[in-house]
Amino acid sequence: MNQRTFPDSFVWGAATAAYQIEGAATEGGRGRSIWDDFSHTPGRTRGGDTGDVADDHYHRWQEDVALMAELGLGAYRLSISWPRVQPGGRGPLNPEGVTFYTRLLDALRAAGIAPVVTLYHWDLPSELEAAGGWTTRETAYAFAEYARAMARALGERVALWITVNEPWCSAFLGYAAGEHAPGRTEPAAALAAAHHLNLAHGLAAAAIRDELGESAQVSVSLNLHVTRPADPESAADLEAAHEVDLVGNHIFLGPMLDGSYPIGLRDLTRDITDAGYVRPGDLALIRQRLDVLGVNYYFTNSVRRSDGPADGSRGSGGSGGHGNGPASPWVGLDRVEFLPTAGPTTAMGWNIEPEGIYELLTALDNAYDGLPLMVTENGAAFDDAPGPDGEVHDPDRVDYLRRHIDAVGRARADGANVQGYFVWSLLDNFEWSYGYSKRFGIVRVDYDTQRRTLKDSARWYAQLARTGALPD
Ligand code: NOJ
Repeated sequence: MNQRTFPDSFVWGAATAAYQIEGAATEGGRGRSIWDDFSHTPGRTRGGDTGDVADDHYHRWQEDVALMAELGLGAYRLSISWPRVQPGGRGPLNPEGVTFYTRLLDALRAAGIAPVVTLYHWDLPSELEAAGGWTTRETAYAFAEYARAMARALGERVALWITVNEPWCSAFLGYAAGEHAPGRTEPAAALAAAHHLNLAHGLAAAAIRDELGESAQVSVSLNLHVTRPADPESAADLEAAHEVDLVGNHIFLGPMLDGSYPIGLRDLTRDITDAGYVRPGDLALIRQRLDVLGVNYYFTNSVRRSDGPADGSRGSGGSGGHGNGPASPWVGLDRVEFLPTAGPTTAMGWNIEPEGIYELLTALDNAYDGLPLMVTENGAAFDDAPGPDGEVHDPDRVDYLRRHIDAVGRARADGANVQGYFVWSLLDNFEWSYGYSKRFGIVRVDYDTQRRTLKDSARWYAQLARTGALPD
């Protein structure tokens, strides 16, 4: 088997998230989330876009499942809207919300599509934010109770549970950069949020297994940063890249996989260990068996050592992929400057670097020896539109996917235990603070009519899913 042929057991899927596709924001007993509040605050999202309607998936889920079946997907990664199933974030469940997901999961199963369920994809119930959000420990306990309730309600329907999605974004874009909900710009709060998201992961993993037994499959999806020194010969730049690794990656990998916050991280971010919220026993609670580690990958960063707080740490192309918020997300990295990267970019301004996913997967394999890995997100936004023939030709996306999946195949050939790949995203959808201006879907959504149109990339991906072989 060559590196461009994947085994039958390899999972080919597509991913979405509740707030980005469901709409029906005030229907079916759904409560409010921080993304409802944030997107309805003037100036927070591009053009004032909100997820109120989004892809109207709440009403069109049957059509969307049929689309996935047509594409021959083996798995679908969706997220549960916490405020839809438990409007206040605590207390009684909303039966209508739970029914929405049981039906969806049953339909997926009936179509032979394995449901991968993310419990937290950024839509924290507003009442919990009012009580402190992720800066407080109570939110982690509330999350664990919600996870337990979902395990009880959905049980065996779920093939793989993903506790939290990209906790780096929740903590640092949400509480330091102000780019994501809840839109706070308090560096110390972001560190507290990071710890409580770690705790939430550990408590939820334990609750799911307590409810469903040890055979329940549990994962987490991390957006791990691949960071290169501007000058590979410069010890100072190498050190700067290492610092990004600590604050961007090991702040989660450390507690989840090694059972500790690395010393270097503690030096950079004193507060995380001195502020008192890391309590005795927390690290043991966070380190739970991971059946597979979910990796989300989009682009690489380039950094250099600077002399002090750098304006260059934000702004177009030089922000570590983010620059849409009022402040920098990079807490503790006053002496790291993010540089614009060279070469072609996607519509997000993110550089296209397939080698990054190869490096990431092989580095994880080296560090955690054989740990099962799953690419739970990878994909690209481009400004594609229907041509005169009504079809959406998106050769840039096909090229992006082909080169990244090829790199995944090479990582596998070199020993990394990568078990599946999920394209982001099944559908064009609400791209957070960028609103509907960025299209990541392999299926186009016309927001006026809600019509879905398969893009060329969807057909290309369907062939890959069917054959397991990457076409030349
Ligand atoms: C990461 C997030 O999980 C997802 O919600 C987002 O749309 C994509 N990356 C693209 O930015």
